[in-house]
Amino acid sequence: FHVPPAENEPIKSYAPGTPEREEVLLTYKDLYNQKVDVPLYIGDKEVRTNNTSSIHPPHDHQHNLGVYHLAEKKNIEDSIEAALEARKEWANLPWEQRAAVFLKAAELIAGPYRQKMNAATMIGQSKNIFQAEIDSACEIVDFIRFNVEYMTQIYDEQPESDSSAWNRVEHRPLEGFVYAITPFNFTAIAGNLPASAALMGNVTIWKPSDSQMLSAKVLMNVFQEAGVPAGVINMVMGDPEMITDTVLASPDFAGIHFTGSTTVFKNIWAKIGANIHNYKTYPRIVGETGGKDFIMAHPSANPKEVSTAIARGAFEFQGQKCSAASRCYMPKSLWPEIKEQLVADVKSFKMGSPENMENFINAVIHEGSFDKLAKYIDQAKKDKDAEIIVGGNYDKSKGYFVEPTVIVTTDPKYTTMETELFGPVVTIYVYEDDKYEETLHVVDNTSAYALTGAIFSKDRYAASLATDILQNAAGNFYINDKCTGAVVGRQPFGGARNSGTNDKAGSKLNLLRWVSPRLIKETF
Ligand code: SER
Repeated sequence: FHVPPAENEPIKSYAPGTPEREEVLLTYKDLYNQKVDVPLYIGDKEVRTNNTSSIHPPHDHQHNLGVYHLAEKKNIEDSIEAALEARKEWANLPWEQRAAVFLKAAELIAGPYRQKMNAATMIGQSKNIFQAEIDSACEIVDFIRFNVEYMTQIYDEQPESDSSAWNRVEHRPLEGFVYAITPFNFTAIAGNLPASAALMGNVTIWKPSDSQMLSAKVLMNVFQEAGVPAGVINMVMGDPEMITDTVLASPDFAGIHFTGSTTVFKNIWAKIGANIHNYKTYPRIVGETGGKDFIMAHPSANPKEVSTAIARGAFEFQGQKCSAASRCYMPKSLWPEIKEQLVADVKSFKMGSPENMENFINAVIHEGSFDKLAKYIDQAKKDKDAEIIVGGNYDKSKGYFVEPTVIVTTDPKYTTMETELFGPVVTIYVYEDDKYEETLHVVDNTSAYALTGAIFSKDRYAASLATDILQNAAGNFYINDKCTGAVVGRQPFGGARNSGTNDKAGSKLNLLRWVSPRLIKETF
């Protein structure tokens, strides 16, 4: 099969004086001063209900950006009906037509919608332009382009035949619909979860995060303009429990594509189990959940590389990546140099609204997150086995601002070494140089998660030892690089243990979950 070669979308620089910088700032101002009205998208209808919630930028929570509409049970039932209706055609379209529609969506995002996607992500999710660009301009485009190529590889894999019997496999979509629940932290994930299932011929009910309404609406408009037929991706918001219960009550529920918290995912899994006798088919359950991701340095590591990896891995996008570094293990011999550099780096970070591109740190997503972070920071200020070496202040008077904070602990099992905080707080444990191997076991046993991790070492043997001992501790394991920033087509992404089902986003493995293959043997 020949499809346009999958290439990573080049990242634009946004340096002062570049046209893209000017354009995104204008788009930002424009969007900031509009009032959006985000409807439910059900089949070919935009549904507005009597029940709405307002939208505010996390860095300026008194500013009103408009509203989004909340569904009632009937709306969810309608969206299921619309999806099943759309399935009749969509599931039987030649794959080239599905591919073309999504490749068109990718080109719309890479081109005319690029700055709208970025500005919506900057305002609605409080992301700086550099982080927005790699997410809402590049990663979503990469997901689509690479998934189209992986799809053709899947279709291409056929069993052996001979002149008397032709064996062929049809990679049919699932019989029913797919439910996509997406997080606020990556616009790319929000787009990819419904789109990847839809690319394989499925119809979807998509529930975006309440904290991602601006970019969710832009994504929906892109899908429509690209020609995704009505009913193939239905977007619904509202009480999450009501939506999930209504979706899971349908006998046509055929799979869930989820990114979010471990607790929510486990609850959904249990509900699917409780409903299992009602379904026409065993539902596919694919989820990426939490993380407590680590960076460890061996005494042979380069201290400057390590401190940069911690500063970037822990604090880019305020640490709100499932891959963010949140627990670190540093050898005593290197720690003074790493500490000095890390503190200097963190002090140099400017914090504020993403409209000012000097601001590396923006606000955390909402008050709930702010309060949780403040609580753990306050606790660290009191605890004898913890010391805050930089940061530790927070202020929610205008926006939900939490300073990037580094805690050093003498207890490798200290609470912030184990608990996922999902914010700009990293905890560091300093180990004795001769306890490297022992500490690797501590790294392995400290967290219930296994998403990402990194080892820094110039010593090849030490790096191999870490790779062996930590074989189940991270689905994405980095040697001499930070634990964030997986690139589609290069580092398929996902973890095990409490971090998810490890069906790597942006891979053939993931797409295979959205098909139900039929083998046809025809004898002559
Ligand atoms: N894929 C992102 C990263 O690697 C996290 O979701 O940082």
